[in-house]
Amino acid sequence: MAATGTTEHTAGERAKAFYVTTPIYYVNDAPHLGHAYTTVAGDVLTRWHRQRGEKVWFLTGTDEHGQKIMRTAEANGVTPQEWCDKLVTEAWKPLWEHLEIANDDFIRTTEKRHTARVQEFVQDLFDKGEIYKGGYEGPYCVACEEYKAPGDLLDGEDGQKLCPIHKRPVEMLKEENYFFKLSEYGPRLLEFYEANPDFIQPASARNEVLQFVRQGLQDLSISRSTFDWGIPVPWDPKHVIYVWIDALLNYATAVGYGADQDKFESTFPADVHLVGKDILRFHAVIWPAMLMANSLPVPGRVFANGWLMVGGEKMSKSNLTGISPQQLTDHFGVDAYRYYFLRAIQFGQDGSFSWEDFAARYTSELANDFGNLASRVAAMVGKYFDGALPAAGADGDAEAALHSALIETVSVADDRVRALDFQAGLDAVFAYVKLVNGYITEQEPWKVAKDDSPEGRARLASILYTSAESLRALAVLLNPVMPATAQKLWDSLGAEPHLGALDAQHVQDAGRWGQLPAGATVTKGAVLFPRLEEKKADA
Ligand code: MSP
Repeated sequence: MAATGTTEHTAGERAKAFYVTTPIYYVNDAPHLGHAYTTVAGDVLTRWHRQRGEKVWFLTGTDEHGQKIMRTAEANGVTPQEWCDKLVTEAWKPLWEHLEIANDDFIRTTEKRHTARVQEFVQDLFDKGEIYKGGYEGPYCVACEEYKAPGDLLDGEDGQKLCPIHKRPVEMLKEENYFFKLSEYGPRLLEFYEANPDFIQPASARNEVLQFVRQGLQDLSISRSTFDWGIPVPWDPKHVIYVWIDALLNYATAVGYGADQDKFESTFPADVHLVGKDILRFHAVIWPAMLMANSLPVPGRVFANGWLMVGGEKMSKSNLTGISPQQLTDHFGVDAYRYYFLRAIQFGQDGSFSWEDFAARYTSELANDFGNLASRVAAMVGKYFDGALPAAGADGDAEAALHSALIETVSVADDRVRALDFQAGLDAVFAYVKLVNGYITEQEPWKVAKDDSPEGRARLASILYTSAESLRALAVLLNPVMPATAQKLWDSLGAEPHLGALDAQHVQDAGRWGQLPAGATVTKGAVLFPRLEEKKADA
């Protein structure tokens, strides 16, 4: 290949990764159900894409600067860095491990790989004339780390004005700051949204942003000078960079911006930024404008998930249910936890968590429909064929119906999960579980087993092969959502020696019939979803 002065790469190395991010979370406190909700969704999405055989990069991390963290550390009598280190190592990373989150990287905004590059980015904007010095006075919510528009505030007691999200009093701030010329980007952003109708999802989120940008954007204060827990503004170190500018840039610095050009070009921009709807504008307005201002490519999609609600309010540190993710996983197990929120709530809409609803779904969908199916089939292959999967005889109408239903299930699940419609994806898979259960009920293999004739044995073999092969597909389709359970099922089907590792099975091929070979050793493995212990909802 002729030398061009730039490094040449093979297509494989160069292929861009499917890049998904979660918000980087504030470490003022331990993670709660709301944080875990977005992170699990990102994990399921990326596991799904990995299992399509795609190159994937999944990033999460922590947002460690700003006034909120500084005040929390002060209140606890430690430095902000000590506070962040403790929370990250004792609370955040352990929870993600516990929930089987398979992130490829974890970025902390206090890391040098981040801070140095943020300074460079902001310096570039300054040099390009995108940043100027000005003054600002307005109501500020420290919990949001954001100036609020006076018209958006709620009335509190004694004439106080409250943040509409946190319902806490805002503070009047007056500062001389540096400003980013965000107001100039309105028309370009609107053009971009127009040309990319899927950029902001769901539709309600898109409409909200369109309306907001159409009203006209104001320039954005991007530095603070009344406290010092942040990244210094390189040309004026009395200021620190506004925590949101700092934070948004994690999506670039974590994948090599300004440091590793190959990594950057083969990863950036994100294909999907997952965010809660509370932080949609930062991602759908400010972030693309910052990138446009520095001539960098903008992300593919910003998907805003709804809120987990408590008593009609967004679940937050101050109104927690009193139930931590660990309490739920202690009772229901990690896999059921990963499953429940995605199945019960339409992703993009608000939803309420209820212990009773979780218990009901666990028992009916996971334990009775799915878990029992797996154990019944394994038990019958054990009992009637000594645990060696028999070869199927000629298929009848009932088998043919299951084959085509499986193909349809795979196609719907693949389409829906990639569209982040996890609920419909899981609905499709669990509708198939019901079909297989119905098939077994109708075929009555326990009755067929009484017929010792060659025809009877062949019929029994067909029924059990069909059921086991269906379970093979279910293990593949459910692996991104419930990896430990799917692995148990894979083991119990004796699939690995013949088909290889479960993670290597392509989800889009799961509907190809006949993959599990006759002769596979089927064993009755561990119960997939044990009966729940009695537990009070307020435990
Ligand atoms: N640090 C910023 C994000 C910077 S990203 C460049 C931040 N952090 S946060 O700790 O407050 O986390 C916010 C995110 O947590 C939300 O956007 C959402 O993804 C998730 N959730 C927090 N509470 C939630 C609910 N009650 N319900 C659903 N998601 C929630 O904002």
